[in-house]
Amino acid sequence: RAEKGAFITAVAFMGVFFALIVYAAKGLNIDVPTCITDVKPFTQGQVIQHAPDRYEIHYLAKMWYFEPANVEVPVGSTVDIYLTSADVIHGFQIDGTNVNLMAIPGTVAYARVKFDKPGVYHIVCHEYCGIGHQDMATKIIVK
Ligand code: CUA
Repeated sequence: RAEKGAFITAVAFMGVFFALIVYAAKGLNIDVPTCITDVKPFTQGQVIQHAPDRYEIHYLAKMWYFEPANVEVPVGSTVDIYLTSADVIHGFQIDGTNVNLMAIPGTVAYARVKFDKPGVYHIVCHEYCGIGHQDMATKIIVK
């Protein structure tokens, strides 16, 4: 059957592409783009202030909330965000920014964001993670 042939061809192509990506990453030592860091996973959310306009936030995603909740930073702050999960895979998207990460247990994702405009920046989990998924949110208040 023609469909079966097309299916096998498609699967074969996927296999080839995957092999090439692995080869590129391992064989040629090229970095596949990723936001995953070497930072050791943490078990607690935390806000660390390095300077009046420099912050580091460790976000812990957990069924079904983010820790810390409702962080406040001054306008113009640069925030380094580190994200991990305590249980399953969660999403992490900050509205009004280009931050869009995955919280994966055992790994730490990273993004830097500068908040130039005051406002309430809502953070939502955009990866289905169970019955509490739609309520899994927090915010960064910039003022
Ligand atoms: Cu966490 Cu959806």
